[in-house]
Amino acid sequence: MRRIIIAIDGPAASGKSTAAKLLAARLGYVYIDTGAMYRTCALAAKRCGLDINDDDALSQLMNTIRLDIEYHEEGNRTYLNGEDVSREIREPDISRLASAISAKAIVREKMVELQRRLGEKGGVILDGRDIGTVVFPNAELKFFMIAPVETRARRRYLELIEKGSNPDYDTVLSELEERDKADSSRALAPLIPAKDAICIDSGPLGIEEQVELLHSYYQTRIASI
Ligand code: DC
Repeated sequence: MRRIIIAIDGPAASGKSTAAKLLAARLGYVYIDTGAMYRTCALAAKRCGLDINDDDALSQLMNTIRLDIEYHEEGNRTYLNGEDVSREIREPDISRLASAISAKAIVREKMVELQRRLGEKGGVILDGRDIGTVVFPNAELKFFMIAPVETRARRRYLELIEKGSNPDYDTVLSELEERDKADSSRALAPLIPAKDAICIDSGPLGIEEQVELLHSYYQTRIASI
């Protein structure tokens, strides 16, 4: 059977990465978390105390760091210059910095190149903000996942508690709102649905129902190719 490219875009904590991971396992596809790539760039910048508005320094950083993504059924492991940073890139300050650094042309250029290299052979599900619009505009199947911001904030809040942090719900909510605004209003590759994306509201759906729904769209699409 033909192995296609599936794009899942949407705002932070819309449930896209969990759904993408489970759908990939079900289809025997590789899952690529593109947000993790921007997070890793942000961590690299933070570690060397770089001002992300310094174009020369940022360009030098992007030309020297090594970023590797390793796929496992339970998710991606992300490496910065050979070091496993999968946990560290989930910290809230890295979420903010990832959003800021992802607005920079040099960063997007490098990441899009890497994402295209990883996905071009098909049999992949990529999640992010611009997969269906910029990275793979010809992807055979595109989803745009949404959910009310309060639902998303609640999910992120519970995730943080599970990880052992002691989050404040209002802070989580306002940070999500800020990040969505920045990601949607930036000049380069803003978060917008591709014209041919299927919009999914994950708000009222449990995770199994989400995966089931995506899978049914996949079956319809694959039957038409
Ligand atoms: O999906 P995430 O929340 O882990 O992504 C972190 C940040 O990276 C997000 O705020 C915007 C940026 N990002 C992007 O600009 N393009 C993508 N394809 C994925 C993420």
